[in-house]
Parts: sequence; C-alpha cells; structure tokens
Amino acid sequence: MELKDRQIILGVAGGIAIHKSVDLASQLVKRKASVHVVMTENATRLIQPLQFQVISRNPVLFDLFNSASDWKPIHIDLADRADLLAVVPATANIIGKMANGIADNALSTVAISVHCPILIAPAMEEQMYRNPFVQANIQKLKKHGVEFVEPVSGDLASGHKGIGRLNTVEVILERITQLLTIPQDLAGKKVIVTAGPTREYLDPVRFISNRSSGKMGYAIAEAAHRRGAEVLLISGPGTVTPPVEIECNYVETALEMLEAVSKVFDQADVVVMAAAVGDYRPQTFSNQKIKKTTDQITISLEKNPDIAKTLGERKQHQILVCFAAETENVLQHAHRKLINKNCDLIAANDVLAEGAGFGGDTNIVTLLDREGKREQLPLLSKREVADVILNHVIELAQPKERN
Ligand code: PMT
Repeated sequence: MELKDRQIILGVAGGIAIHKSVDLASQLVKRKASVHVVMTENATRLIQPLQFQVISRNPVLFDLFNSASDWKPIHIDLADRADLLAVVPATANIIGKMANGIADNALSTVAISVHCPILIAPAMEEQMYRNPFVQANIQKLKKHGVEFVEPVSGDLASGHKGIGRLNTVEVILERITQLLTIPQDLAGKKVIVTAGPTREYLDPVRFISNRSSGKMGYAIAEAAHRRGAEVLLISGPGTVTPPVEIECNYVETALEMLEAVSKVFDQADVVVMAAAVGDYRPQTFSNQKIKKTTDQITISLEKNPDIAKTLGERKQHQILVCFAAETENVLQHAHRKLINKNCDLIAANDVLAEGAGFGGDTNIVTLLDREGKREQLPLLSKREVADVILNHVIELAQPKERN
C-alpha cells in the first residue's frame, strides 16, 4: 500500500539490528513515504548518517546543536509535521528515556515533542529485555498508547538464543502501514465513553464498589480517538490510568456519573456505557466514620438511577451502546437489557469466563442489536473488541444519516 505524502520520523538507536532499519527506510521510500531519520549518537557509531541520508533523500538529524535549520527548532519542526514516529531498533536505553520523558539527545528530544502515534520495535539481549525495569518502561509506554512491534526469538548478538531479536522488516512495515492508514471513519463525531467502577459511600472512608479496572472503556475511548472522533471519557476510579491524550471527567458515584453524562448527552453522536455502575447506594451516609459498636449492622440500600435507561429514554439521533455484565443466562439477560434500556447495541460478557470481563486485557463478548443480529466474538484483546464495537456503531449510523 502506498504511503504517499505521509511524514514518518524513523528513530534509529544504537542496536546491532540497525542494518534492518536501513532496509526499512528504503522500503518506506519505495512506498512513497517521506522519511526523516533521527539517530542517537551511538547509532552513528554503527552506521554513517550519510547512508540513511542517501536512502531517505532527506537530511539526517543526530546533533540538535549542529543542525542546519530554519528559525524553528528542528525537533519541533519535525515533530509538528510527523504522522508517525517509528523507533527501529529501540534499545533499552531509548525506551527508558522515552518512558521517563528524558530528552538528552536528538531522538529522545524528538520523541517527547511529537503529537503523532509512536511505534517502537525493541531489539536487545534477552536478559535486558526481561529486566523488570525495562519491562516496566515498556508497560508504561503501552499504557500511554505507544504501539509496539514485539521482538522475536532467535540468535542474539551475544551468541545466546532467546527473545530480543528485532522483528522482521516486513512485519514492522506492515504495522507502520496499518497505523498510517487507520480509517478516520469517526471524524466529526462526538463520542462519550463511560468507564470504570462507581463508589457508593457509606461514610467518609468506606464505600461499595466493584472490580472494574476501566480497561474496557479506555480501550473504546482510545479506539474512537484513533478513528478521528472527538472523545470524552467519563471515568470512575479504576485501577489503570486513562489514556493521556483523551479528555477525561473523573467521577466517583453513580449520581455523579449520571450528572456528567447528562450534561453532554445532547451534543453526543455516540455514547458507550462500559462503566460498571453501582445499581444500589447506601440509603444513608454517615458524615463520621461508622463506629464498631455492635456485632452486626444492617446497611439499607436504595436503587441508583439507571443511567443507560435514562439516556435511552432521552435519545434522539444518538447511538447508545451498553454492556451487559452477566454470570448466567448471558444472552437472555443481555437481550432484556437491550430492550429495557432502549440501546442500539449491547455487548454481553460473561464475567465469570476465563479471559473475559473485569480487570484483564482481554474480553469475550457477544454483540446483540435491535434487529436481532448477533455476533459472537472470540477471545480478543480489549482493543480489538473496541474496534469491532465501533465498526458496528459506524454501520448503525448509516441508515440514521440517510433519514
Ligand atoms: O473495566 P474492566 O475491568 O475492563 O471490565 C470491563 C467490564 C466488565 C466492566 C465491562 O466489560 C462491562 O461489562 N461493563 C458493564 C458493567 C455493568 O454495569 O453491567 P450491567 O449489566 O450491570 O449494566 C448494563 C448496562 O447498564 C451497562 O452498560 C451499565 O454501564 C449500565 N448501567 C448499569 C447500572 C446503572 N445504574 N446505570 C447504568 O447505566
């Protein structure tokens, strides 16, 4: 697939697999991408910048203080134009710098300046790759939406065998192409996503809540953002950090979530209710911490408003997507919720099934719509589930737009 007019910064760190990034630069140029190579100083010890310059047909940046540039700082100029930053090969060192916002060379400075997607293809010895600090840095970057092409197993520079070899140029090229050709099919749409649990307080220190981490909702918000939507995340206190690039309103209780969603509902095109909203809240709230004076206490609960149902009654042009978290008769219960809440699509998950539901990075859902269509998805990452749900949203939006 052609990458005409796409501006790619190819970040090159000092790893022995550097020869593959020469090949990658050449393949990208063949696909008509505009390639701007930024090298670390160590990378220039392994390969002359001139080689990348000839292949990319653009100047190579490796010294921020000695680069011919216009009035604009060169790293900002490059960052502002970039559609993608691909760091290939990425050493433990550059990964650590990127994960911690360190900017002490041309590549790490460009990396903290870009506002485009970032792809990292690590390459290092297995013991370095498995090092807990390196893994923590990788996880940190992933949490912030940085994409990775994982290394593969095989012969390493040390003579050892193991994981750490840079993936193939074909795989990296494919991933770059995918990232640069993500359909912007939600451009111009306003998408609201609820995520995480709610907390229903008994007293200032105790609350009733559930096991939602926020991952499913965050994955949907990220996917909608990648596809061009203007996204607002309304999130309860989950266990993971919401994606930084997405506007997020933090709430705690179901009542706060209802208020936050209600305020913006009229402007929304799509609302996805992935939050695990508490169905009940304590009837009374004690301003002071409840004392341990009796052997038993009884807590009376009252029903929280059903946010999804409220929106379902109010909706006009909006597409309303709900989830159903079930432990038995999953599809029957989900179908009942689809109808009761007047939503357009419901994603049913059996939260007792392995790999599904709360906390993990994967989910197993069945999608039901109001026309009786069902799509049972296999075990997928929450990111993949998010994209399938959004594909359905696009389909559901079609006839509505024609009316
Ligand atoms: O956050 P994760 O750890 O990634 O876990 C993901 C998840 C299991 C939380 C998610 O996949 C999921 O199932 N979310 C919905 C949880 C839930 O509250 O399901 P429910 O069947 O109780 O509610 C049905 C729908 O009504 C949901 O869309 C819910 O957001 C909504 N609801 C529920 C109660 C209420 N008072 N108001 C609501 O709007």
